[in-house]
Order: sequence, then C-alpha cells, then structure tokens
Amino acid sequence: MRKPLIAGNWKMNKTESEGISLVRKLIQGVKSLTTVDVLICPPFTSLSQLNKLLVSSPILLGAQNISEHKSGAFTGEISADMAAEFCTHVILGHSERRAFYGETDELINLKVTAALNAGMIPVLCVGEQLEERESGGAASVIAGQLQAGLEGVHLPDPDLMVIAYEPVWAIGSGLSASAEDTGDLIGGVIRPTLSGLWGEIISQKIRILYGGSVNPGNARGFFTQSEIDGALVGGASLSADNFLGIIEQAT
Ligand code: 13P
Repeated sequence: MRKPLIAGNWKMNKTESEGISLVRKLIQGVKSLTTVDVLICPPFTSLSQLNKLLVSSPILLGAQNISEHKSGAFTGEISADMAAEFCTHVILGHSERRAFYGETDELINLKVTAALNAGMIPVLCVGEQLEERESGGAASVIAGQLQAGLEGVHLPDPDLMVIAYEPVWAIGSGLSASAEDTGDLIGGVIRPTLSGLWGEIISQKIRILYGGSVNPGNARGFFTQSEIDGALVGGASLSADNFLGIIEQAT
C-alpha cells in the first residue's frame, strides 16, 4: 500500500557536467516506470540544470541540506525557499552532517520546520552508532532522534515526510544491516514512535527507507520486508547501472 521510493544521495560527488551525463542515463532507464518513485539528491550546484533536464521525467529532485534560517547574513548558506525553486525534497539529519558539522537534533528540528514551511518534503535520517547498537541502545537512540527532531512538527499528510533509517556503521562500509533486523526495528521502534507523534494512520502510511551499503545485490532482501519502503543509496547511486539495478529490484 506504500509506494516504494528509491533515493540517491550523491553527497559531495559529481560536477554539473558529470551529473548531467548520469541523469541522462537514468532518464532512459526509468522511462516507463510507474510502480516506484525515484529521487536523486545531487549537490546544490547541479540542481538548476538537473531541474531543467528532468522536466518531463518522473525522477524527483532533492537537496542534501538547507539552512534553518529564512534569509539574511549567513554566508555560504542556502535557504529552503532557494532550494524549493528547484527541488521537492531535502535530506536532513544525515549522520555525516551530525558527525562532521555538529548538527544536533535541535538544529535538525529547526531545519525540518524550515523545509515544511517552504513546501519541501524532508527526508529525515536517523540511526545509531556501532557502540550504541552493541550496548543494546539502538532503539532508544533512534526513538530519541525522532522525538527531538520532530518535536512540535505538525504533519497533516504522510506524503509530506520521509524517514530514512541509516545505521551509522553501515554507511559506506560495505556492511549492511540485516534486512530482518531492519524490518523489526522499523516496525517495532520507528513506526510506534511516529504513531506517538502523529497517530496510527500517519505512522502506517509514511514511507520509511533503509540506507547503508545498499547495492543491486542486497537490495531485494530489504525490499521483501514489508516494513521497508525503499532505500536511501549513497555510493551505488553514483553509477547508472548500479542505481537502476537497485530500482529494478524494487519494481
Ligand atoms: P552508502 O550507500 O554509500 O553506504 O551511503 C548511504 C548513505 O549515507 C545514504 O544517505
């Protein structure tokens, strides 16, 4: 009942011309696709051109970050209104932004609100570190990130938000989480936490993705879990063959 979503997070990869050549291949590859939503999140510098290139394609475009501020003297920042001219989605709370740029749940909460106010769909990332998993603390870390990151956020429609569960130790490591554990965690922790915030109906309808070393070889295992509604793909989204291979597994 939830339509799968396959999202690519390009991170700090691909110049504009490299991005255009990748997207041309993706457009060909997803031509007749209707059963899966596809989202790509390139760097800011490519959004304008890719937005033009994708005008008659079903592929959706997202940003990788926005400022929590609406406008003003914030050198180097990009506001939600600026990004919203080119794209529909924005990745927020990614573990790399939490780890390398000191983003806290409080800051992420401000960014989620800024995105929604600009009419963008946040792809909110949560996930535990290896030590937290090993000490049995994964569930409470993830529930805490959701509660703090979404505090005070009103969500009238489940299509206005996407959640991505990305265990930090699985990102870029080649060590993906087990599909079964991930399904259990989404069904046992993430949906119940969202239900506490927004009620049962929204929590059953909102899409929850898995991210962390997804590739064409392991993707199917995740997609056969009923609780997992797609993937947020890093490294494998940089090659058309790999990304299309993952999309194919979701169809
Ligand atoms: P990898 O697919 O490279 O592990 O990255 C996952 C990720 O961080 C997507 O946001």
